[in-house]
Amino acid sequence: MNVIVTGGAGFIGSNFVFHMLEKYPDYRIICLDKLTYAGNLSTLESVMDNPNFKFYKVDICDVPAIDKIFAEEKPDVVVNFAAESHVDRSIENPQVFLETNIIGTSVLMDACRKYGNIRYHQVSTDEVYGDLPLDRPDLFFTETTPLHTSSPYSSSKASADLLVLAYYRTYGLPVTISRCSNNYGPYHFPEKLIPLMIANALNDKPLPVYGEGLNVRDWLYVKDHCKAIDLIIHKGKIGEVYNVGGHNEMRNIDIVKLICKELGKSEDLITFVADRKGHDMRYAIDPTKIHNELGWLPETKFEDGIKLTIDWYLNNRKWWEDIISGEYQNYYHKMYDER
Ligand code: NAD
Ligand code: TYD
Repeated sequence: MNVIVTGGAGFIGSNFVFHMLEKYPDYRIICLDKLTYAGNLSTLESVMDNPNFKFYKVDICDVPAIDKIFAEEKPDVVVNFAAESHVDRSIENPQVFLETNIIGTSVLMDACRKYGNIRYHQVSTDEVYGDLPLDRPDLFFTETTPLHTSSPYSSSKASADLLVLAYYRTYGLPVTISRCSNNYGPYHFPEKLIPLMIANALNDKPLPVYGEGLNVRDWLYVKDHCKAIDLIIHKGKIGEVYNVGGHNEMRNIDIVKLICKELGKSEDLITFVADRKGHDMRYAIDPTKIHNELGWLPETKFEDGIKLTIDWYLNNRKWWEDIISGEYQNYYHKMYDER
């Protein structure tokens, strides 16, 4: 089987590449990635020489280049991780989110149609459902919760989801969509909450918590997300949406305090800063459908996963230090100085 994985030099995509190469030694994994600021070839170093792995530096919006790759590689399945993924950046500059997340999705699906009605999986997010109030812990996102987005990022992902479902209904393209909650784990880009706090704490820098830190996210270890996508592309029902999440809701402030504790750093590093515009209060996934239909359950408990993650950042300092010493400095100053 030939599997195209887009965005495979990013956080979740790279973890998925590793998962697939290890679990299916007879599959070919073809990674397509533009290598934006968030893509990192060093992440894929350990698989570059694997004969079952091939890497193309390409923009998913580039129609002729995508056409050529599909013609040459003859994929059986396409899994689309490629995206602009950071809410704060989408607030600063929405345009590139619309290009990659919406247009890029349609370019990939057009190639799927052109080269033999290829199976297509869209990696989406729980953020398409908007947010839930803090005082209604009984409410969860199900697959039928209306789309109700807050940020340019989530709006671009919701737009892509609608296009994917339109390609199913209009052209009969064999599609599935997964909508997962917040991931954490190895190779998470240090602009996101957990790796940012780990990196800053290790450097004894302030830990910038937005607002009062009361916002709740539903955290899932990245490898559990990869296993869910693996199940969906092999056993999922065509045309269906699957929510993925592990019932692990935590307040931001509690995560940051936990990181301080694990690293033996003082909570005095915590600095409350101006809130994110339009900041979603709470995300919480109901994963009943994927559990009942495909037998998926998260395997990594948060208390284990966070330790594994912190250990990974301790043991792979070069990976994130190279990132935060480059262009990231400009980003950090722009977003956090005088916030
Ligand atoms: P990431 O930002 O770490 O990686 C994105 C990757 O896509 C990078 O390697 C980047 O170079 C590549 N890319 C960006 N634009 C591209 C383009 N035009 N053409 C080709 N490649 C391009 O993102 P991530 O956190 O790994 O997220 C992957 C997917 O999972 C995204 O679609 C995101 O919406 C979704 N998702 C993420 C989370 C999360 O918690 N991180 C949760 C649910 C869903
Ligand atoms: P993030 O990792 O950006 O994921 P998302 O916004 O997609 O859920 O942020 C997770 C939560 O942490 C979110 O409520 C915003 C908050 N946050 C901070 O408080 N400080 C930070 O520096 C960052 C990056 C995020």
